[in-house]
Amino acid sequence: MKKIIVNLNKRSYPIFIGKNILSDKSLFNKVNKKSLALITNKKIEKLHISKIKNALMKKNKIIISDGEKYKNQDSITKIYNYLLKNKYSRDSCIVAFGGGVIGDMAGFAAATYQRGIDFIQIPTTLLSMVDSSVGGKTGINHPLGKNMIGSFHQPIAVIIDTEILKTLSKRQFNAGMSEVIKYGIIKDKNFFDWIVKNTDEIKAQDPKSIIKIVKRSCEIKAEIVALDEKEKNIRALLNLGHTFGHAIENYLGYGKWLHGEAIACGFLIASSVAIQKNTMNISEYNKIKALLKAFSLPTKLPKNINIEKLFKIMSLDKKVKNNEMVYVLPKNIGNAYITNKISKNIVIKALKDHAK
Ligand code: GLY
Repeated sequence: MKKIIVNLNKRSYPIFIGKNILSDKSLFNKVNKKSLALITNKKIEKLHISKIKNALMKKNKIIISDGEKYKNQDSITKIYNYLLKNKYSRDSCIVAFGGGVIGDMAGFAAATYQRGIDFIQIPTTLLSMVDSSVGGKTGINHPLGKNMIGSFHQPIAVIIDTEILKTLSKRQFNAGMSEVIKYGIIKDKNFFDWIVKNTDEIKAQDPKSIIKIVKRSCEIKAEIVALDEKEKNIRALLNLGHTFGHAIENYLGYGKWLHGEAIACGFLIASSVAIQKNTMNISEYNKIKALLKAFSLPTKLPKNINIEKLFKIMSLDKKVKNNEMVYVLPKNIGNAYITNKISKNIVIKALKDHAK
């Protein structure tokens, strides 16, 4: 089993990564003494609940509907109702057992229930293992924007059992790879090159390769979060492609494109902006595009998209600061930067270049 620490002084916590580790009782020692509420969905309950049955002692379940369109106030109210009716106190603990949607909602319920209780993340998709379960971003969507309501609330542990990925659809797996590739682009060229060389092994879910991609992604995320927990500066690098990606998701209606798919297209649009600013060259763009294609990720915007409308949605994103759009752009593979000095024309051209 691998262990990575997210260093946040008193709020530091471990990320455990391994195959078939959910049956390990010792991982749950701390929380088994508390009142627990396990938040999950029907599918995960059916497929995977048996894996934690023996390790987790008191497991009252709250089943919520999964999917981006249910990441809303109604689901949160359902969680609050259950916790209140069953008299959960301030020293109880929520266990989020699911993908990014479950993790974000369970985390937000934990952040706000009685002004904040503990929670554990047990992510079940590649995307949530390498990104959303780590770093304490919790929240829900609003009809006017994704993740617009939320809070920073760190979990007390993240437990990643890579065996669970076996039941993930190919589409979901590839969407998770998008976040993995992101870490290579923003921070680690060697990692990016390693993914290129090991694409077949990763796609075949070779156990060692899977542990490697999850571990390296979590290491990079933990390092960045420890330096900038509340996204005052460098944590924003993790948002590469997200301003474009969130707008695509919002434009299409949440859930049509998976988050990982939308941000993959966003990486290329951001790269294209960087090329126009002469801070990146076309060969790097082509390398990123080839790797995204290798994982069947979109490299073009959805068909018939209205670029002006998409741009308008982008300007609602919370990455807008003092009325200026903030962009994360790659410099080359392994380096990225944050800028608000991009004119609308440049962005519109990059969007048009990716229209079908
Ligand atoms: N998913 C980006 C972040 O956690 O900051």
